[in-house]
Amino acid sequence: MRVVFVAAEAAPFAKAGGLGDVIGSLPKALSQLGIDVTVFIPRYRGVPSSLPKLGTLRINGGNEIKEVSILQGFLPRSRVPVHFVDFPPYYERAGIYGEGDRDYPDNLTRFAFLCQVAAVASAEFGRLPEIFHVHDWHTALLPLYLRYYGLEAKTVLTIHNLAFQGWFPREAWASLGLSEDLLALAGQGEWRCALRAGIVSAEALTTVSPTYAQEILSDGLGLDEVLRARAADLVGILNGIDTEEWDPEKDEHLWAPYSHHDLRGKALNRRKLCAELGLRGDGPILGMVGRLTEQKGLDLLVAGLDRVMALGVNLVILGTGEARYGEFLRQAEKRWPQRLRALLEFSETWAHRVIAGADFLLMPSRFEPCGLTQLYALRYGAIPIVRAVGGLRDTVADIEDGGNGLVFEDYTAEAMIETIARAVRLWHEAREKVLAIRRRGMQGDYSWKTTAQKYLAVYERVLSR
Ligand code: ADP
Ligand code: GLC
Repeated sequence: MRVVFVAAEAAPFAKAGGLGDVIGSLPKALSQLGIDVTVFIPRYRGVPSSLPKLGTLRINGGNEIKEVSILQGFLPRSRVPVHFVDFPPYYERAGIYGEGDRDYPDNLTRFAFLCQVAAVASAEFGRLPEIFHVHDWHTALLPLYLRYYGLEAKTVLTIHNLAFQGWFPREAWASLGLSEDLLALAGQGEWRCALRAGIVSAEALTTVSPTYAQEILSDGLGLDEVLRARAADLVGILNGIDTEEWDPEKDEHLWAPYSHHDLRGKALNRRKLCAELGLRGDGPILGMVGRLTEQKGLDLLVAGLDRVMALGVNLVILGTGEARYGEFLRQAEKRWPQRLRALLEFSETWAHRVIAGADFLLMPSRFEPCGLTQLYALRYGAIPIVRAVGGLRDTVADIEDGGNGLVFEDYTAEAMIETIARAVRLWHEAREKVLAIRRRGMQGDYSWKTTAQKYLAVYERVLSR
């Protein structure tokens, strides 16, 4: 079976969040199941233009012909080819989606072009795959281009985050080269929606956890009608993680390696984290790694920070995102100089270090399609404190129920603070228990092994129809 992934991100080449992690790892797991997988992403700045060239294409983009090259690399530690769409006017920029708080105004054109090129290039170089597996709104227009060119292949669309839908005013769609009957799949109003087009035209839909699948069927964020119409074709498949990239025994970002057999290395990472960041480390260390957005529960932190800090914790936050949250954290750092550090940057190294050094990982998300950070935390022995929503509900169970973390239900600062207080008590009063929970978490299987099989089942179902 031949499958082509098309996406806006793939780690380590381009990553803004979990989408990049998934595209950088799931294809490797699928290829181990015997599937012939290729990944298409743009060649953004940062990926060398000196990579071997597979060929050049002339693409008819509405009112002009664009010449584009396809460069080839591989996902690290694999033979999975990555085809980079090289078109500097669209992709040779500082950001993936935008810069600062602003998206690039031509994102529809940029990502539609990615779809168009992936479709044409797959047909021209090598064999047309049986399946295109596309991800989020950026590549949801791919099935439209398949129809446009009369290419016989099926599409599977994975929704990683329904909050991002790709709405653009009617005039923005005019230059995509698509006919009106195809554009109508993106909606008939003054604004059209890329994700909608994918939802109505892909042969199968998946999302990244079983609970999120249910959640989006009960609240479709404006796409309720089209989602519910496809309910029978939608499955929630939990994300896995790249267990080589995230392995505390071999992690080169860390100060010391460790495993569940020998946690001395974790203690050392903790000490180093405190020393490097100037933290006292006298209470439990809570880590947070993620985009500073409403999704990640930053409002609970803003509302409850004084009470959280009064519990005697140390807090390390690594994140980039909305300026208002960054400013809040900068001020907070001044108020608790030896107890709170905010690293307002995107750093792979610090992401690994914070998770390795932390006693607990805080993820009070308002919504969370899957979440990978809590899985990294479990594997690194940082006990997750999460809100029971989306994929967090599917991956973390409360220790009161024999689980691997601490869980709260209500999206309120009070519920979060109560749960952090429970973690603090545990840390002071039940060290042995904490150690046992840590070890148990570290031994869980968060790999793609079982979940990649579920994608295979989706592909087989689509092909058998
Ligand atoms: P989302 O995709 O919603 O951002 P996930 O938990 O699925 O959330 O994935 C987030 C990914 O992005 C993780 O790999 C996390 O380590 C990474 N990440 C988020 N913010 C940063 C940052 N500031 N620096 C480094 N890595 C980050
Ligand atoms: C999205 C979601 C996150 C998920 C990731 C990968 O960015 O916000 O919950 O883990 O995609 O599927």
